[in-house]
Amino acid sequence: MKKVLAVVIAIALIIACFLVGTRLYDNEPSENTTVVATETEVLPDIKDTHSDDGRTVVGISMPDKLLERWNRDGIFLRNQFEKDGCEVKLRYANNLIDTQIDDILTMIKEGADLLVIAAVDGAALGDALDVAKKANVPVIAYDRLIMDTEVVDYYVSFDNYKVGVLQAEYLIRKLNLEHSGRTKYIEFVSGDPVDNNARYFYSGAMDTLQPYIDKGRLVSRSGQHDFYETSTSQWSTDLAQQRLQIILNSYYPDDTRLDAVLCANDSTALGATRALEADYTVGNTVAVTGQDGDVANIYNIFAGTQGMTVFKDLQEESVVTVALGRSLLKGDKPDESLIADNSWDFKCAFNTTDYDNGQKVVASYLLEPVAVTADNIEELLFDSGYYSRNSSGLIYAVE
Ligand code: BGC
Repeated sequence: MKKVLAVVIAIALIIACFLVGTRLYDNEPSENTTVVATETEVLPDIKDTHSDDGRTVVGISMPDKLLERWNRDGIFLRNQFEKDGCEVKLRYANNLIDTQIDDILTMIKEGADLLVIAAVDGAALGDALDVAKKANVPVIAYDRLIMDTEVVDYYVSFDNYKVGVLQAEYLIRKLNLEHSGRTKYIEFVSGDPVDNNARYFYSGAMDTLQPYIDKGRLVSRSGQHDFYETSTSQWSTDLAQQRLQIILNSYYPDDTRLDAVLCANDSTALGATRALEADYTVGNTVAVTGQDGDVANIYNIFAGTQGMTVFKDLQEESVVTVALGRSLLKGDKPDESLIADNSWDFKCAFNTTDYDNGQKVVASYLLEPVAVTADNIEELLFDSGYYSRNSSGLIYAVE
């Protein structure tokens, strides 16, 4: 018996060693990977990283290419910085924190004079940004606030709280919550918890819907309300779809009506409409919200399977970012006057109170989001020239 036990233990040890060996060999990033090693490897001499040959190098770090918008952000930013005579390094992090940290360090090494960063995880960039500080490179947090660090100079985004308010206001109108005698049923699909914006979208929507929830006019049969339990890691369409399918199968069997799904953005809305198509059997149209105006969702708005999206003009966001970058590169300390000096024909507010990243309140330039439904989509997205149709009627984004 003892012999058998010894053999079993020996085999277990061999397997354990093999697994540890494989992990090391694979060089998989562990959760605790720090950037200190990378920093010394990649940046032996931090002081010399600025380009000294008259070039102005702008490093742009975007989260991922899977979502339509970041591709467009990258193109707009690159085109405009290049028009200004800058050399642009544009990198996408595949939604991986370690990749984004490497991207940032590499761009500093390549001589970046300015960094524009849309964070994968807002709270994970502190160490990399300490390197930016040592290299004297100003940092603009693009669209998503970078958290828990002093090393972020400015933030450019939309009024994120208002995005949620617009989604909720649409539902209040669509479900006639003010006047309808019948209780309406809703489910919630929130964004990625490591994206600081997701909380703002959630709060804007929930604060606006709360009075109707309190009065019992709006009910979630699953009982899932709070931010974390409704959140969607990486804003994934598949995860949103899977979660809603489970909810539909558990809480909305035949003849059990659902009126709305509050989705934080278009990638999650796509998951929700797919889940409804697959597993919702009552004949009513469920009001689905979104954000971004992605092409697939625009088709769904025309088809009636998505009720609205919140449009954020990415051209405007990049125009403001480039103007801000230009000013920082000159060594200025931009403030409210940046807006007047540029006489933009769109609304932009300078905000020095609302975006506290845990270390400081980050001065922010905030643009206006707009609600888009089937009623105004032609005017807002097509007549404006943002989108167009080819000769076969296919929709494409104008670059
Ligand atoms: C952006 C949204 C986008 C989401 C997923 C958010 O930070 O503000 O526009 O839909 O990320 O990428």
